[in-house]
Amino acid sequence: MNDRTIDQPLAILLELTHRCPLRCAYCSNPLALTPRAHELSTADWCAVLDQAAELGVLQIHFSGGEPMAREDLPELVSHATRVGLYSNLITSGVLLDDARLGELVDAGLSHVQLSFQGLDEVTADALSGFRGGAARKCEALARVKAAGLALTLNFVVTRQNAGQLDAILRYADEQGIARVEVANTQYYGWALQNRAALMPSLIQLEQMSQLVEAWREKTRGRMVIDYVMPDYYGRRPKACMGGWARRFLNVMPDGTIVPCHAAQTLKHLEFPRFPASTLASAWFESPAFSAYRGTDWMPEPCRSCDAKEKDWGGCRCQALALAGDAGTLDPVCEFSPKHEEMVMLALRESQSGDDRLQLRHLSFKKTGSTDAEAAL
Ligand code: FES
Repeated sequence: MNDRTIDQPLAILLELTHRCPLRCAYCSNPLALTPRAHELSTADWCAVLDQAAELGVLQIHFSGGEPMAREDLPELVSHATRVGLYSNLITSGVLLDDARLGELVDAGLSHVQLSFQGLDEVTADALSGFRGGAARKCEALARVKAAGLALTLNFVVTRQNAGQLDAILRYADEQGIARVEVANTQYYGWALQNRAALMPSLIQLEQMSQLVEAWREKTRGRMVIDYVMPDYYGRRPKACMGGWARRFLNVMPDGTIVPCHAAQTLKHLEFPRFPASTLASAWFESPAFSAYRGTDWMPEPCRSCDAKEKDWGGCRCQALALAGDAGTLDPVCEFSPKHEEMVMLALRESQSGDDRLQLRHLSFKKTGSTDAEAAL
């Protein structure tokens, strides 16, 4: 029985696969990836899409890993279109040739979010572990534009590429891109172990904020720039996922249904899995989804805070990672007893001089299949 006091999700992110040709140092996927043999089948993903539509979901984000590593992607997009869902492809673009893009356009794809690590090949290659990626991404961008699809350029910022922000925004404007997402690295999964090497300095942060403001002014009316600040230098937490289990859910490659990308680090919660659980039952009935939904779970001072229905208590996964308790204050909040410690950590790491990046390893959960079989 659905609880009618809970709104249905607006959007669902389908992590179709953890396979990916890139080896990004800032990858936020878990350390142990799901191998190909454990990914949901085409029929399963179509059933997920059917349930999403029945639930009243509006948007589907096809993600990964690299979602284009799934050969059935056009079939899945076509199914999403058939059941009335708006579909967005979140991709690195390096596998996007004319033929494959044509299939996706024919299937009814509505939007593409294309990620960049920079325009300078040396930096982009060093961050992604993929040689020649920047040029491939520029080609992909031209193809998506030519196909007439809506397009968002996503630039993940690290200490290594923060200096390229001006060039990226100029490039986006020259290309007529309507929306750019400048996203500082979120330190979850693989990215967490590279934090000291990736963390931008306070000076870089100030320069980035000024640049974003200047470009917003310069491109007002033709380009929207979303700017995601680095959490560690913030004073008030972000409303992670718009609040735990309020607007969004994710389905992992093996069908595990979670309220956010890093939820499986919360080992005290048991997350439902498709097809044993339906999306509706996960959303409305699962204890894991109700654990931090709304405001009843909040400790003080969150519970008495004016912003409690704005930030929804911040990020539960970050509270666990940095304060050791998913039910306590997100240390990004200036009222957290851990806040000063977190800011000092960011300052120290950003000046550590430790620039050694560990590129993503494809470390798959043990299933009997080899990494090579599980990879692309
Ligand atoms: Fe899980 Fe923020 S990533 S709540």
